[in-house]
Amino acid sequence: MRNFTSVNDIGDLRGAVREALEVKANRFAYKHLGENRTLLMIFFNSSLRTRLSTQKAAMNLGMNVIVLDVNQGAWKLETERGVIMDGDKPEHLLEAIPVMGCYCDVIGVRSFAQFVDKKKDYSEEIINQFIKYSGKPVFSMEAATRHPLQSFADLITIEEYKRTERPKVVLTWAPHPKALPQAVPNSFAEWMNRTDYDFVIANPEGYDLAPEFVGKAKVYHNQDEALRGADFVYAKNWSAFEDPNYGKVLSTDRSWTITTEKMALTNDAYFMHCLPVRRNMIVSDDVIESPRSLVIPEAANREISAEVVLKRILESL
Ligand code: CP
Repeated sequence: MRNFTSVNDIGDLRGAVREALEVKANRFAYKHLGENRTLLMIFFNSSLRTRLSTQKAAMNLGMNVIVLDVNQGAWKLETERGVIMDGDKPEHLLEAIPVMGCYCDVIGVRSFAQFVDKKKDYSEEIINQFIKYSGKPVFSMEAATRHPLQSFADLITIEEYKRTERPKVVLTWAPHPKALPQAVPNSFAEWMNRTDYDFVIANPEGYDLAPEFVGKAKVYHNQDEALRGADFVYAKNWSAFEDPNYGKVLSTDRSWTITTEKMALTNDAYFMHCLPVRRNMIVSDDVIESPRSLVIPEAANREISAEVVLKRILESL
């Protein structure tokens, strides 16, 4: 594997999950692969899980790790070509990227959607510039439209906990006070659409995801209907995708919060969320603290998804 930005880069999902479970059982078995190799992790946005789990995965593989928070201590970066740089950004990404590539063997990038220009966000300009100009393998630590390390960890978690071969998995929108990207739900949908699960999406009117991510999933605008018989409930907020409301909060309707009453509609479902989560907006205290909550196992599997991806990249060097 050279780059990892979506499910398309991982190949056969059954093979990937099998490899993940092998790595999980013996996570230091590939320590030789990263010897004298350096991972550079570049964050344009905040992170807790991605930062720690990816660093831990790299250390499991024997790599050295450098972490750069672009907005804290680095020069502010101009990303637009053609701009007269007489403002507050002294360095251009087009010089910064190849320079960063000089100091490492693999680059991880976190760069969220900006919500200024949908076309630009959905063209994944930032991570694609890293792929084009760094000269090094690049993987996504959440880009504008996808969060594949999260989705891979979610898939591993579902495979570990599923009680039937073809579980019903419901991705449901839930309320949040601020505009959040569509990256996590897009990516989750993209990965679920590659499985043979019974996968459905629930969201209020005006919150439909891009058709290429919805894929074959049935979309419900009635959450209760979608939740009936669910084996897994994956809650997440996202802002509107459709024009003219791209990137906007259209609703904070708390009747979409996942509560004990909502979970009672399901087939004793497991609750999932990528974290961080706003309690009693997205999910009630009772549900997230219940034995059916998988939020911590999901987060733990972030180390494993990152290790498989880094292992495959290292094997290709
Ligand atoms: N789920 C996730 O990516 O968490 P962080 O934003 O804390 O990295």
